[in-house]
Amino acid sequence: MSTPSLLILAGDGIGPEVMAEVRRIIDWFGSKRGIAFEVSEDLVGGAAYDAHGVPLSDATMARAQEVDAVLLGAVGGPKYDALDFSVKPERGLLRLRKEMDLFANLRPAQCFDALADFSSLKREVVAGLDIMIVRELTSGVYFGEPRGIHKEGNERVGINTQRYTESEIARVARAAFDLARKRAGRVCSMEKANVMESGVLWRQVVQEVHDADYPEIALSHMYADNGAMQLVRAPKQFDVIVTDNLFGDVLSDCAAMLTGSLGMLPSASLGLPMENGRPRALYEPVHGSAPDIAGQGKANPIACILSFAMALRYSFDMGDEAARVERAVESVLADGLRTADLMGPEGGTPVSTSGMGDAVLAALD
Ligand code: NAI
Ligand code: MG
Repeated sequence: MSTPSLLILAGDGIGPEVMAEVRRIIDWFGSKRGIAFEVSEDLVGGAAYDAHGVPLSDATMARAQEVDAVLLGAVGGPKYDALDFSVKPERGLLRLRKEMDLFANLRPAQCFDALADFSSLKREVVAGLDIMIVRELTSGVYFGEPRGIHKEGNERVGINTQRYTESEIARVARAAFDLARKRAGRVCSMEKANVMESGVLWRQVVQEVHDADYPEIALSHMYADNGAMQLVRAPKQFDVIVTDNLFGDVLSDCAAMLTGSLGMLPSASLGLPMENGRPRALYEPVHGSAPDIAGQGKANPIACILSFAMALRYSFDMGDEAARVERAVESVLADGLRTADLMGPEGGTPVSTSGMGDAVLAALD
């Protein structure tokens, strides 16, 4: 295969700060492991608006469609709050997701042993936790028509429509089953088939895809409200969870917090395979631009670093190299190094953004 190509869109606020640490890790792979990436950088969000008057230029969009993977930092900030909706920084990210048709949003919730006491749940409930939530990202109630607010008689009515086609359900189900094959081999599908027709169809299609092509995967179905309870009661029962856009939004945030800080959470958004067989893909930390700490060297770069590890695994089939990065992060945490967001009552050695980057690089060596 050709040299893997990456487009880095660092964005706003702490985006460029955390991405700088990822750049160092990419360089480490080139110099120490002989794995070279063709890296280009461009603007997104407020940074792109400042330069071009739009949160994502057509040229950047075209570049994103050409590369093997996009790495994004974060977008937005108070400076842009008053902008018209059509040019808000977030629109840059939405355009990328839409035009790349990134329908499967992967949100791992993994508990590093060193942070188990940092969770709001008991250590024994979360220690060793490793689940993957696959959220449908391009359809469902956030996009369905009709939508809007209108007048009926003398009161206002707000409307959104939950709408899923068979093919939309089938492709995200496949993404979940493919992941489960490389993990513990279990998928739990969540919907509300008891009260929603779209949920009935969801359950049927997921089951059909399973029976036809993934009979070896252990598939279960759960109502999403029960799923929320199970996630905080006994999260280790899950391996892969697949669910729709709305439930996935809520359940993935809930699962994420089982493991501690926003500064630790990576994500991947995947689309259909390109001609070279690699999926269209965008990797980004779950957190935003954190204007409250931007420019102070306080940001935790681990979410962004782990997002790069996901790129190694899911775009470049370098699972061993991804695990190498994850082990480095784990050992740094075990050594007690803590950015401010990870500083709990049990204490630790305070480090800055670049201090955390230094430590991860040293652990990689
Ligand atoms: P946020 O995720 O930026 O920050 C929430 C809190 O978590 C803040 O106290 C922040 O300091 C802390 N935090 C976040 N990431 C951290 C890290 N890596 N290390 C240490 N602490 C961290 O969410 P908020 O404050 O709601 O939004 C701020 C801006 O970011 C807004 O303009 C919002 O629209 C945008 N945003 C962008 C996202 C994206 O680019 N995907 C996602 C969420 C928000
Ligand atoms: Mg959310």
